Amino acid sequence: MGRPLSKAKPMTAGEARPGSFGASPPLRGTARVPGDKSISHRALMLAAIARGRSRVAGLSEGEDVRATAAALRAMGVRIDRDGDEWTVDGVGTGCLLQPQGALDMGNSGTSARLLMGLVASHPVTATFTGDASLSRRPMARVTEPLRRLGAEIMASPGGRLPLTVRGARPAVPLTHRMNVASAQVKSAILLAGLNTPGITRVIEPVATRDHSERMLRAFGADLTVEGEEIRLRGEAELTPQRVAVPADPSAAAFPLVAALVVPGSEVRVEGVGLNPGRSGLFRILQEMGADIGMENAREEGGEPVADLVARHSPLRAVEVPPELAPSMIDEFPILFVAAAFAEGTTRTRGLEELRVKESDRLAAMAEGLRAIGVAVEEQPDGLALTGSGGAPIAGGARIDPRLDHRIAMGFAVAGLGVRQPLTVADMRPSDTSFPGFEAMLAGLSR
Ligand code: S3P
Repeated sequence: MGRPLSKAKPMTAGEARPGSFGASPPLRGTARVPGDKSISHRALMLAAIARGRSRVAGLSEGEDVRATAAALRAMGVRIDRDGDEWTVDGVGTGCLLQPQGALDMGNSGTSARLLMGLVASHPVTATFTGDASLSRRPMARVTEPLRRLGAEIMASPGGRLPLTVRGARPAVPLTHRMNVASAQVKSAILLAGLNTPGITRVIEPVATRDHSERMLRAFGADLTVEGEEIRLRGEAELTPQRVAVPADPSAAAFPLVAALVVPGSEVRVEGVGLNPGRSGLFRILQEMGADIGMENAREEGGEPVADLVARHSPLRAVEVPPELAPSMIDEFPILFVAAAFAEGTTRTRGLEELRVKESDRLAAMAEGLRAIGVAVEEQPDGLALTGSGGAPIAGGARIDPRLDHRIAMGFAVAGLGVRQPLTVADMRPSDTSFPGFEAMLAGLSR
């Protein structure tokens, strides 16, 4: 029988978990990576408001997705693990219950922003809290449109968490033109639109990951996309589904780049999601000369997937076109690590959004890479960094991951190609998206 999902524990509780990473023997084998985090959040949320039992296979069990599950349970949704699958007993659109306490979003921006959207058109009042990183991140991009559809929102100074959303009764359908390329904002508005009478419209001049659109259709919502405009008919009755979550490309990126930079390596990751809104990194790595094979390309659960195989490759520097940024927005930390081993100077621009992720990723990467001996120039909207041409990097430093899983995992991978081991002061942030990350990495070098 199922066991209940425990409440997400804050990763900052208890002792730090330092990680030491030094020159690695060749990496070989198949890396198991978690289910896609973006798709996992959406699967839980849509299943929660479908009426009846959905089953989700391959769900991410990282802390971020657990925060979403805990919040939905607090609003009356039953979520259990049943063998390798999760069951979600959805309550029906409009039927989320009043939570009895604050909803703790931990480190998870996707949980916070998407659930704020869901709650905004439900007759509940919910308070959202988060850790120190999430409490610094901008929320006005979501609260502003949600206020326009009728939700009342009391936010902390700067429009940040903790904040309370009192759902609109009833909500009015919104037409929102996106002023920041953000799948989270788009998804929050669409989720709010589900329990809103009439047609909700989102105009998206710069395309971002379309997992919400794909999954809303799969659950039976009337959603159409015409050019830049997404239209959703509200008061939707969603039908429970079986969802197969692909492996997370943003997690797969770490073992795959590790294989590219450690001589003699060959690493495989199976069933990786290759939604065009997510696969920019793999295109850029191939342009850098990476040997990344894509095998058994297929469609699973409405998303394109393939098995990826990366072999050690001499890499050349690239200029990343800013238009590609939305399709690899979470992959810049690991791209910068690949660039640190490439021949020549890699340049990126148009990356202001990286400053408001789980940490200021431009500053965190510039500081950490410099500390291990890489020449980096930090600009307001990007980095220029000169790689070692494949030679080992000095290493030897202690890196502060700044409560950011991708900074922690990025420097763990960088550490596999250093002369002096480096230390990541705390690897616990990796638990938000990739529980078992260090064991996975160690397993590839045995
Ligand atoms: C996500 C969208 C992106 C991404 C985040 C997950 C999503 O954020 O960085 O990790 O699941 O919609 P933005 O929408 O803020 O760009």
